[in-house]
Amino acid sequence: MRHHFDHDGRAISYLEVSGGGERLRGTLILLHAFPMAAAMWEPQFAALPPGWRVLAPDLAGFGESSTGTSDPPRIDDYARDVLALLDHRRVDAAVVGGLSMGGYVAFALHRLASTRLRGLILADTRPEADSDPARAGRQKTLDTLDREGPAGVADAMLPKLLGSTSRGTRPEVVSKVRELASAQPPEGIRRAVLSLRSRPDSTPVLGEITVPALIIVGEEDEITAPEVARHMHGQIAGAGLALIGGAGHLSNLEQPEAFNIALSRFLSTRFA
Ligand code: MLT
Repeated sequence: MRHHFDHDGRAISYLEVSGGGERLRGTLILLHAFPMAAAMWEPQFAALPPGWRVLAPDLAGFGESSTGTSDPPRIDDYARDVLALLDHRRVDAAVVGGLSMGGYVAFALHRLASTRLRGLILADTRPEADSDPARAGRQKTLDTLDREGPAGVADAMLPKLLGSTSRGTRPEVVSKVRELASAQPPEGIRRAVLSLRSRPDSTPVLGEITVPALIIVGEEDEITAPEVARHMHGQIAGAGLALIGGAGHLSNLEQPEAFNIALSRFLSTRFA
């Protein structure tokens, strides 16, 4: 289930899971949030419709993937690694789903190689670049990382990563997110913050999306609020929108059943 391959002298690690079925109907790439890793998608692995397989990479510097080497680091570097994964697994085009930072990488993929996308799932993400206050917030994250390491970053982000329902009633989800975020390498986190801070505005991409698209958002998401998702929904022709009750920013982990229903319905009906 876990695999590695070499790309430009760096190891890229990914999880691969098949939904069974006699014939391969499609490949779904799932791109994780910051500061997480591919393991955050575990609740989705069991929910794949027959014929679908998922490839979930650890983005560079997270999980078991080597740290990137570009200077300065850019969001497009992650997208190039995903293209290398598609080449490695000989996939011409895949449905790409990204949550938050993973969504920024999905936008970058669309900019770099839209023909490799069969569909898009944009979960708890936004197309805009960082605002000035958001950029100032990134410096705070870097300062916290220097002072307290990944566990400090995890603790500072937890109240926003999870919705009030999860924080109040799902201690196992809180522990899982804290554990996963605290385990990420400091250099991977640092480079990701620089990439997030410098990412371009992807708003122009929205009008160019012609493949089937699904937008998912937790109703309690405080980082990328439902109104951001509704706005994206209005800009992408034919897109679906799934609001996940009782979930915040990490909607796939907080309410996996509702998330999986939306995911599985999208794959089964839009790619029949
Ligand atoms: C994420 O969940 O990936 C981050 O919240 C993204 C961001 O900070 O912009």
